[in-house]
Amino acid sequence: MTLLLLLMVSFIATGNWAQERVWTWQCQEGRCVKQLLQRNETPQGLEACKLVCDIYSTLWPRPTGKVELGRVLVPINYNAITIIGISGEGRALSENVGQLFSTAADNFRNRLTTMFKKQEQRTSGGKSLQVQVTIHDSSTRTLTMESDESYELYISEADYSQVHCNIVSAQFFGANYGLETLSQLTTFDDAADNLVIMRDVNITDSPAFPFRALVLDTARNYFSVASIKRTIDGMAASKLNTFHWHLTDSHSFPFQSSTYPQLSQYGAYTPQQIYTPQDITSVVEYARARGVRVLPEFDAPAHVGEGWQWAGPNVTVCVNAQPWNKYCVEPPCGQLNPTNDTVYEILGGIYHDIFALFDSDMFHMGGDEVNFECWRSSLDIVNWMTSQGMGQTNDDYLQLWDMFQKKAYMKVVEANGGNEIPIVLWTSHLTAEGAIDKYLDNEIYIIQIWTTGRDAAIANLVNKGFRVIFSNYDALYFDCGFGAWVAEGNNWCSPYIGWHKVYMNNPYTLLTNLGVDVSPGTAARELVLGAEAALWTEQVDESSLDGRFWPRAAAMAERLWSNPDEGWQQAEYRMLAHRERLVQRGIQSEALEPQWCYQNEGSCPSQG
Ligand SMILES: *[C@@H]1O[C@H](CO)[C@@H](O)[C@H](O)[C@H]1NC(C)=O
Ligand SMILES: *[C@@H]1O[C@H](CO)[C@@H](O)[C@H](O)[C@H]1NC(C)=O
Ligand SMILES: *[C@@H]1O[C@H](CO)[C@@H](O)[C@H](O)[C@H]1NC(C)=O
Repeated sequence: MTLLLLLMVSFIATGNWAQERVWTWQCQEGRCVKQLLQRNETPQGLEACKLVCDIYSTLWPRPTGKVELGRVLVPINYNAITIIGISGEGRALSENVGQLFSTAADNFRNRLTTMFKKQEQRTSGGKSLQVQVTIHDSSTRTLTMESDESYELYISEADYSQVHCNIVSAQFFGANYGLETLSQLTTFDDAADNLVIMRDVNITDSPAFPFRALVLDTARNYFSVASIKRTIDGMAASKLNTFHWHLTDSHSFPFQSSTYPQLSQYGAYTPQQIYTPQDITSVVEYARARGVRVLPEFDAPAHVGEGWQWAGPNVTVCVNAQPWNKYCVEPPCGQLNPTNDTVYEILGGIYHDIFALFDSDMFHMGGDEVNFECWRSSLDIVNWMTSQGMGQTNDDYLQLWDMFQKKAYMKVVEANGGNEIPIVLWTSHLTAEGAIDKYLDNEIYIIQIWTTGRDAAIANLVNKGFRVIFSNYDALYFDCGFGAWVAEGNNWCSPYIGWHKVYMNNPYTLLTNLGVDVSPGTAARELVLGAEAALWTEQVDESSLDGRFWPRAAAMAERLWSNPDEGWQQAEYRMLAHRERLVQRGIQSEALEPQWCYQNEGSCPSQG
């Protein structure tokens, strides 16, 4: 008793009590097993073990081509890292791509610094790391649907003092991903107190789907530019490439239009809660250097209201009408008046301002949830339709909508310098069977699906030759599963969607189940551009943003980049590791499991 007390006192006195390491991790059959540290045994830290143990290391998303991993770690010195970018001919990169590349190299270094817990750890010894990045096309700096995002990555130990990494890519985007992969092959080994990297690596990698997106609604609640950039950081870490920005809605108008600044003056929640042209340019450039395209959406003719008061009484109809359930799906209601020419004039100005700031190769015109009762409630619209010899049936209103869409699209083309541009629209009455062939051209329109993944309408879209983006709400609406806000109980699309379901949401499987042949080589397969996770923000603002997106958005990212045949069970260790990575980089991701499961790999998912 006295001896024990004495021992305890001496532990406390020397401060060793907390530091004494009793556990080590050993790789056994592809998983890290926690074991008691034996006398004279050199401990292996958990992170170092994970890096060499899983067949795909802790890479997220896992590469799609060759994955040859040496599974040996060597210490490297943070202060002895050189990163150079060269063109295919071995010359310096052009200035345009050179600038992007230098930001990507800085980002790589910054990612490594997040691994250190103390400043001193950066200067601890180890080999030097030489990274040479070859970018064959050194002029392309804007991501499009035709961009080549592939890369190759090789790591070898050059000699006793140096580790060499070669990254080769067609364009900047692949080079940037190569650097992300390289940072994922690096960790701080807390047992050895060293930054370590995997020594022998051959990886070839390219995405399964070209369109891998998130949509953030910045109108139901406002999000600062900093939080948007943090979201883009998470996307870059997970190789997602499109940030779809739902700029405005009936609730608020934060987009500051240079042509009509009155819209945000009247429509922003506060004068501070706006996106100025400078804000938007800074987001677009931030995203560009991370391989992310920013796709703007201006939703119309529904989902408008705040801001438009400025334009006068007959430009919008049913704004904040009550009882709202009669005229829209959530308060406040509001739609543009397609019969009033001022509407197109203002839209033209807004589109012009948007095209001046964004350089996306497609534009999102929304087209979500048009309510015919809203239009019917306006004497101005009813009178106009009567004067045109039109009736008051749903078909007549569909025609009115079609007229709006065509006139608004002409304004888009005008804003785009007279050039046609692919347009994304949400699924709606206009895209339904019977309507879509009559009203929309499949060379222009891309349809974003937000029905369930089992809706036969999806098969119809592909059969009619439309390109599609999957945002089927039963797997990709991340706002589902919370309390309701217009009543008691749960919100409309409950329950909460777990990462497993997100991970398993394979667009090809959904189409196959609907009877569409999407086997390799089919035209139908080419029409599936990819998918997009949606965050509608009625019940989210900046304080809970990260946790709603992450790490579930990363689950979708692996589906879209790697499209694995295996189930989520095979990805679970890496999912937990990637979640830790996001947190380390300052993204407040939700915890998926007790930390115990992270430390005891493979022990938590039910085997039964
Ligand atoms: C990587 O490729 C080189 C050249 O083919 C080969 O010699 C080396 O063994 C490979 N590395 C691994 C870890 O398989
Ligand atoms: C359209 O709305 C504006 C603003 O209220 C109004 O001044 C104009 O007269 C309307 N145009 C028509 C054709 O009703
Ligand atoms: C708005 O529409 C109503 C109904 O057509 C009409 O009586 C009124 O003059 C219009 N107001 C303006 C400003 O155009």
